[in-house]
Amino acid sequence: MAGWMFTARSLQQPAGILPPRCLPGYKPGNAFPSPAYAEAKDDSMAIERTFSIIKPDATARNLTGAINAMIEQAGLRIVAQKRVRITREQAQTFYAVHRERPFFGELVDFMISGPVVVQVLEGENAIAKYRDIMGATDPAKAAPGTIRKTHSKSIGENSVHGSDAAATAAVEIAQFFSGNEIVG
Ligand code: CDP
Ligand code: MG
Repeated sequence: MAGWMFTARSLQQPAGILPPRCLPGYKPGNAFPSPAYAEAKDDSMAIERTFSIIKPDATARNLTGAINAMIEQAGLRIVAQKRVRITREQAQTFYAVHRERPFFGELVDFMISGPVVVQVLEGENAIAKYRDIMGATDPAKAAPGTIRKTHSKSIGENSVHGSDAAATAAVEIAQFFSGNEIVG
C-alpha cells in the first residue's frame, strides 16, 4: 500500500500518524523529527515500516535482546514494541493466509504457547531488509549470519516473523498497534 512508503520530499504520512508539526521536537523548517526521515537524502531512498514478531521459541530461550541487537545492527529502528500473549483468535487471524496448509494448527498452537514480542521496524527498504536479516523460513536453508540460521530450532519454531510486502505490513501493524503507539 503506497501510504506506507515514505520519501524525503513527498512528506507522505500513513493514516493515523501525526503530521510532523504535531510531534515533539518539531521546529518550522524541520520536516523530519525522526532520524530515519532525516537519513533519507533523496527520493530514491524509501523509508518503510514492517511488522516483526519474536516468536515463543525465542522468548523462552531469552533471545529477545540478541535478536533485537541483530535488527538494530542492520540499521533498522524499533519504533513500537510490546510483549504479549496472543489469543488463539489473534493467531488464526494473523496467519489466515495459511489456514488451508497442513501446518496451520501446529503453527497456531505454537504462537500461543508462550509470550511473543510484537514490534514495528522502520528504515530504508525495511520490509526486504528485515526478510534478509531473518533468513529463509527453514533455518537449515537460511544464510549464515541470519537470525534463523543463528538461533532457530526448526521450520516451525523459527524465532521470528517479518512482513512480506507493503500491503501485509500495513495490515499486520494495524492488528497490533494504533498510530499513537508507534514513535519514530
Ligand atoms: O515466516 P515466513 O514468511 O518465512 O514463512 P511462511 O511461509 O509465511 O510461513 C509462516 C510460518 O509458518 C513460518 O514462519 C513457520 O513458523 C510456519 N511454517 C511451518 O511450520 N511449516 C512449513 N512448512 C512452513 C511454514
Ligand atoms: Mg510469511
